Amino acid sequence: MAKAVATKKAPVKSAPGKGAAPKPTTSKSAPKSAPSASTRSAKQATNNGSMLEEFFAGELKDIYWAEKHLVKTLPKMQKAATSPALQQAFADHLETTKTHVSRLEEVFALMGKKPQAKKCDAMAGITEEGSGIIDETEKGTATRDVGLVLAGQKVEHYEISTYGGLAQLARTLGKNDVAELLEATLGEEKEADSLLTQIAENNINYQASEEKED
Ligand SMILES: [Fe+2]
Repeated sequence: MAKAVATKKAPVKSAPGKGAAPKPTTSKSAPKSAPSASTRSAKQATNNGSMLEEFFAGELKDIYWAEKHLVKTLPKMQKAATSPALQQAFADHLETTKTHVSRLEEVFALMGKKPQAKKCDAMAGITEEGSGIIDETEKGTATRDVGLVLAGQKVEHYEISTYGGLAQLARTLGKNDVAELLEATLGEEKEADSLLTQIAENNINYQASEEKED
């Protein structure tokens, strides 16, 4: 039999399937604008129910737990902080974090799933380390603030890597609407991280360097 060359019906979309599997990597070449919609939606159809999609859904449960856990943790960090700028940063990030929780709920809905949380051991560990810092430092000191900034930045960096990776995977799975939500959160995590750097560099680090032990 001669090979059919399907010229009539096939539109621009190239043959899906067999080819190279999409790479679930988090390279720095993250595309800002939505890439070729037609190619992506063709892939979306083939990726539904894939192992990668299952894995992706599992990771969403993990970060969902992490964000909800942060909603409980940030007020403690705010209370422990001394610098008004740092207190404000934690208070503001609490509100942003609540948005992150609801964005993830939207993501679950877009994927036709109920929001479900699965304990994120990494976030549990980072926040436990944060409470350790509070216990080990003196109330009202810039040294404690330094520790809180450090803990806060560990949280942000964990979230940045998670959202960066998940947004890339969402693109790979052809779920551009999901990717956009995750990228919005990613941007806000990066802002929170930069703000903490600024606060530390503007005063806290220097003040802490002047503090003497009793
Ligand atoms: Fe967040």
